[in-house]
Amino acid sequence: MPVPIIIDCDPGHDDALAIMLAAANPAVDLLAITTVAGNQTLEKTSLNARRVCTVAGITGVPIAAGCDRPLLQALAVASDVHGESGLDGPRFPEPTVDLVPEHAVELIHRILVNHPEPVTLVPTAPLTNIALLLTRHPDSAARIREIVLMGGSTERGNTTPAAEFNIHTDPEAAAIVFGSGVPVTMCGLNVTHQALATPEVLARFEALGTGLGDICVELLAYFASAYSRLWDMPHPPLHDPVAVARVIDPALVECVDANVTVELHGRYTRGATVVDFPRDPDRPTNAKVAMSLDARLFWDHMVDAVAALGSRPA
Ligand code: BDR
Ligand code: CA
Repeated sequence: MPVPIIIDCDPGHDDALAIMLAAANPAVDLLAITTVAGNQTLEKTSLNARRVCTVAGITGVPIAAGCDRPLLQALAVASDVHGESGLDGPRFPEPTVDLVPEHAVELIHRILVNHPEPVTLVPTAPLTNIALLLTRHPDSAARIREIVLMGGSTERGNTTPAAEFNIHTDPEAAAIVFGSGVPVTMCGLNVTHQALATPEVLARFEALGTGLGDICVELLAYFASAYSRLWDMPHPPLHDPVAVARVIDPALVECVDANVTVELHGRYTRGATVVDFPRDPDRPTNAKVAMSLDARLFWDHMVDAVAALGSRPA
């Protein structure tokens, strides 16, 4: 039976491919896509989710917009990484799929209480919607099978030396999620930096010979130029689909138990995920932390997903 999931995202180049992987892979059943402010404003990330679904032929999956700013602090978008649109690179047609007229938090809650089995949440963005869900609807926790998120790091950050973008954008929300008691798996930069979109990977998308394959090449080429300019990295890491891959096949992403605490106060370290592998009895395990990725199989799944979506009749 496919695992029922909801993706909470801020597309975003890597979010776009996470949506495609989740929509196409038969091991998961994508129940909804929800959006939040992060890489760009909520208006732009929501438009981008509709754009991705339109070009990928994803219909029948509700898309709902959620929170337009972090819980406490001002929103700081990532135009330097994802461009002014949040999805710079390809030229997108006018979207043909709409948002549903319901707040993301209410849509997620409604799905959770009505679905016959517990649902896995896959946040690939700041955790504002998920924190609000858990605080506004405490009955949600028992209906969530697990939260498999992209965010944080066991090592350095990418937004500050200590903090990764999704956690740094809304640290209070992240602290609520890690402290919620719901099973959490953290796919942080230490593992997503193993999912590098090399020229060989781009060639595989190009070889599909489909419009969607070409859009992926354009997205990844834009992402590559941003990573080269900002971090001097020759190949960009495709962060967000790694969380989806962990749900598709847990063996793809090896995890260890740990305590993860979100630093909220440090002048230079706010938003850092402080990961302690079981040592300190005062810091009991509250998460699985992803450590290694089977990159070859990961890319096979990613290319298969884009091939499957691209072959669907328009
Ligand atoms: C995360 O930040 C965003 O820019 C990406 O979409 C990803 O979710 C990586 O730090
Ligand atoms: Ca994202």
